Amino acid sequence: MSDHSAPAWRVGLKVPVAAMPAVEAALETLGGALAVGGADDHGMVPIEVYLAAPPRRAHLSALLAAAALAAGIEAPEFTIERLPALDWVAESHRALPALHAGPFFVHGAHVDEPPPPGAIPLRIEASAAFGTGHHESTRGCLMALGDLAAARRPVRRALDMGCGTGILAIAIAKLWRCPVVAVDSDADAVRLSAENARLNDVAEYLDVVQADGYGHRTVATGAPYDLIVANILAEPLCALAPDLRRHLAPDGVAVLSGLLTDQAMQVSACQAPLKTVARVPLGDWVTLVLAADAHAPAPGR
Ligand SMILES: C[S@@+](CC[C@H](N)C(=O)[O-])C[C@H]1O[C@@H](n2cnc3c(N)ncnc32)[C@H](O)[C@@H]1O
Repeated sequence: MSDHSAPAWRVGLKVPVAAMPAVEAALETLGGALAVGGADDHGMVPIEVYLAAPPRRAHLSALLAAAALAAGIEAPEFTIERLPALDWVAESHRALPALHAGPFFVHGAHVDEPPPPGAIPLRIEASAAFGTGHHESTRGCLMALGDLAAARRPVRRALDMGCGTGILAIAIAKLWRCPVVAVDSDADAVRLSAENARLNDVAEYLDVVQADGYGHRTVATGAPYDLIVANILAEPLCALAPDLRRHLAPDGVAVLSGLLTDQAMQVSACQAPLKTVARVPLGDWVTLVLAADAHAPAPGR
């Protein structure tokens, strides 16, 4: 049997809709393809993850326990099922088609389709870090960044807090050709962001560092930032709000994502005195654009 027709594994579980952000973010780190169904009558959402290699049960339990704790629910039960042999490479490529998000054309190396004229290509492969662009929270950020650039918002220095694959930092570098500090607490994400910056020919603009939040000298040295983007779930967004305000330029703008629509008011309130000037809703998720001056030119959406 060749590697191209290896057996695959499916992880299945159900979680309450409010716990989806934390659980999805945890499962994305497994590097497989995620399929999320609609909520049933009890508000439970079915999630399946398709993986090329069997996940370690203990690792999965620990991941889900941490996500459940963050979401305030009981750790969900899950199943791991071995699927019949299939062409896994083709399957994973089918699960990760090229996508259009604002001015961007996000694709892996397997995509033959050329970028549409005028689109900005972002090459991102499926990996152990979150951020292929297929998740609504990432797509919302890409669309908000496109809107800000279209509104001619000047950005001389930017920060991507929780960079994952580096997709948003790379997008910013391509839009504004400015220095971007990209931060992640996860060593794999830091390595992949640096690698992806090279693949996308923007390594000269990115400074990728490993840190928990804003506690890194490079982050302090780069401040104040004209743009801070953070796609890291509602709770950490609120916890990091005072740091964000300290590092944002007075006329700067923040793009926040990783929140469900019904968490938007809470996250927006945490960022006061910053005000929400635009929203990008996608499915159950919403991306917020915030600025100190509510009358600042808002991106057109
Ligand atoms: C949902 S992913 C977003 C990845 C990418 N920016 C995107 O939009 O697709 C969140 C990332 O934030 C990182 N992260 C979470 N909390 C963090 C913290 N306190 N400090 C730094 N990174 C953090 C995680 O490791 C993960 O890579």
